[in-house]
Amino acid sequence: MRTLILNGSPRKEGNTSALVDKIVEKLRAGGIEPTVVSLYDKDIKGCCNCGACQKAVLKDHCTMKDDMARVYEEFLYAETVILASPIYMWQMTPCALAVLNRLHALCQAGDFSYNAMKGKRMAFVSTMGDGVECADSAVTGVMDMCDYFKMDYRGTVRIPCAKRDDILSGKYDETIDSFVSKL
Ligand SMILES: Cc1cc2nc3c(=O)[nH]c(=O)nc-3n(C[C@H](O)[C@H](O)[C@H](O)COP(=O)(O)O)c2cc1C
Repeated sequence: MRTLILNGSPRKEGNTSALVDKIVEKLRAGGIEPTVVSLYDKDIKGCCNCGACQKAVLKDHCTMKDDMARVYEEFLYAETVILASPIYMWQMTPCALAVLNRLHALCQAGDFSYNAMKGKRMAFVSTMGDGVECADSAVTGVMDMCDYFKMDYRGTVRIPCAKRDDILSGKYDETIDSFVSKL
């Protein structure tokens, strides 16, 4: 299973990165070597709504020239995409949301005559400082997006009151195992 993990945390040694490390460990145990892309240090702007991708299928997917070019290629190659983000202000981080915005270029949403997102497995995992309900908006957004673009939503992991050491110590291993088994 070709698996892509998009990490929207700014912290390489933070809580979300620990969760990503755990997911990678579990995937590897199952014989899957995922590709992990850290989004925060990439130059990926939000959609500028030029409308070009909705009028024609563009060779490079998007008129904007930035690091999204690589993410498009990785995304199109993957069968399963896991988006990881800390919850900042009840939402995913701006870099994670910018990527979701830009995926719009992979579908002509008017008549769905082109939809490169269709059938892809998608999951969203997050860490947060407070309770799991803080991620409700972000999780619902990803589920709605999957529904609209005919992607196959495979679930979520939410780590409340997240502490990197807890995640790495195995406190959430059962939850993560269950998540990985459903991908
Ligand atoms: C700007 C900012 C906003 C945050 N907003 C929330 C929030 O709305 N709800 C919450 O539970 N935690 C919030 N937190 C806490 C983080 O979600 C939490 O510490 C997370 O595990 C950090 O992950 P990271 O180490 O990958 O950055 C916020 C943290 C920051 C820096």
